[in-house]
Amino acid sequence: MQTLVNIAYLLAAVLFILGLKKLSSPKTARAGNLLAMIGMFLAVVVTLLDRQIVDFTYILIGVVVGSAIGTVSAMKVQMTAMPQMVALFNGFGGAASALVAFSEYEFSRPTSNQMEFSVILNIILSVLIGMVTFTGSFIAFAKLQRIMRGPPMVFAMQKPANALIFLAVIGLGTAMAWDPANNDFLLAILLLAGVLGVLAVIPIGGADMPVVISLLNSYSGLAASATGFVLHNNMLIISGALVGASGIILSRIMCKAMNRSLANVLFAAVGTDGGETAATGGAAETRRATEYTVEDAAMVLENAQSVIIVPGYGLAVAQAQHVLHEMEALLMKRGVNVRYAIHPVAGRMPGHMNVLLAEANVSYDLLFEMDAINDDFQNTDVALVIGANDVINPAARLKKESPLYGMPILNVDKAKSVMIVKRSLAAGFAGEDNDLFFDPKTMMVFGDAKKIVMELAHALKAA
Ligand code: TAP
Repeated sequence: MQTLVNIAYLLAAVLFILGLKKLSSPKTARAGNLLAMIGMFLAVVVTLLDRQIVDFTYILIGVVVGSAIGTVSAMKVQMTAMPQMVALFNGFGGAASALVAFSEYEFSRPTSNQMEFSVILNIILSVLIGMVTFTGSFIAFAKLQRIMRGPPMVFAMQKPANALIFLAVIGLGTAMAWDPANNDFLLAILLLAGVLGVLAVIPIGGADMPVVISLLNSYSGLAASATGFVLHNNMLIISGALVGASGIILSRIMCKAMNRSLANVLFAAVGTDGGETAATGGAAETRRATEYTVEDAAMVLENAQSVIIVPGYGLAVAQAQHVLHEMEALLMKRGVNVRYAIHPVAGRMPGHMNVLLAEANVSYDLLFEMDAINDDFQNTDVALVIGANDVINPAARLKKESPLYGMPILNVDKAKSVMIVKRSLAAGFAGEDNDLFFDPKTMMVFGDAKKIVMELAHALKAA
């Protein structure tokens, strides 16, 4: 029986890895998700059959309630609210690992100080990482949901306070290894870890939360893996390690694409809550941007031979993806060569633009990653920017003092002409002025992205 179980676990692990591999391209992402789902289903069923389960009542209640909550929330969630949802999932994952490890300890707690050190260590790691993930993820959720508003909460002695709590956890862990029969130590670790999660996340800017969530996702995997060691469950060890590793890799990719170190994200308190940003140039601004009406803009587009569309955060806010696809189809019908350029951190979460455009059935063949399309801007008639700002800001190349300096950007400024759809001259996430708005070859079309693109499509239809 044990061999069969291990074979099933191995199969599930292979499905997870294949699923992860397929997630790296929009074309194969759905298939990847399906493979990973099948793997997880197999793992859960085999685990339920393997263990000597005395009573299925609570398990069934959990399955029904959990499935109902998961299905309803997944169906209702807005694309812009996905990071919050992932934060909640991570938080619950961390809490589950911590609670399972805690209860395993309670069940097997010795009456004397005879407990293997490796078991104690894994219990402590599960509880510590799981609780940090739980409370940290809930703070991340509250910030993204704007329940917690305002600038990042920074106070004096914040880092020493965190270090002190961490040292206290190590001290309590040592005491627990000395006296495993006393459960007060683990209880204290559980509470302190919860406080540590809160303190670690409150100083981070709201708009940096996606990176934090990816990091917490990785922590939830590590906590699950540690719990796997506590329970001697290979599947949990492997799947936890996969989540842990992929979460770290994703955090690194995001940091690299923003040209920031993880330490800068975690400690520099950059960005406010991802919403309010200063207007470019402020009151002293004397330059004039060239404003185009929708009719004039439509005329420029229909006379172009090639257009590269650059989607950004504003597209997601406006939910303009469906009308954008409609407009793109109208242009293609007129023989315009239309493609999309996707910056790795356009929007507010990894793959944000890909998912959004896939939702609107934009063909995957039209989507190009930054490196694959950046050299083509110079031969393109119109770079059409919809609600993007930082990812096209030339300050990243030119201004050493800019927070964007060094961040790779889409070469929109190299196109023959640039059309930017946004509501105002306001800065983007990094709060940095964008000189491209005032470039003589730039046409600004002011308004909500959905409204403007709808009007553009209308004008193209009528033409
Ligand atoms: P941003 O730089 O945030 O710019 C978005 C622009 O959209 C804003 O300037 C805003 O200007 C406009 N906008 C907002 N609502 C709109 C609406 N309803 N209609 C039309 N326009 C609207 O976005 P980006 O260029 O996509 O760059 C992403 C930024 O987020 C980068 O700085 C990146 O580092 C950061 N970030 C990304 C991630 C990931 S993984 N994607 C994670 C963390 C941080 P108006 O107010 O004038 O309309």
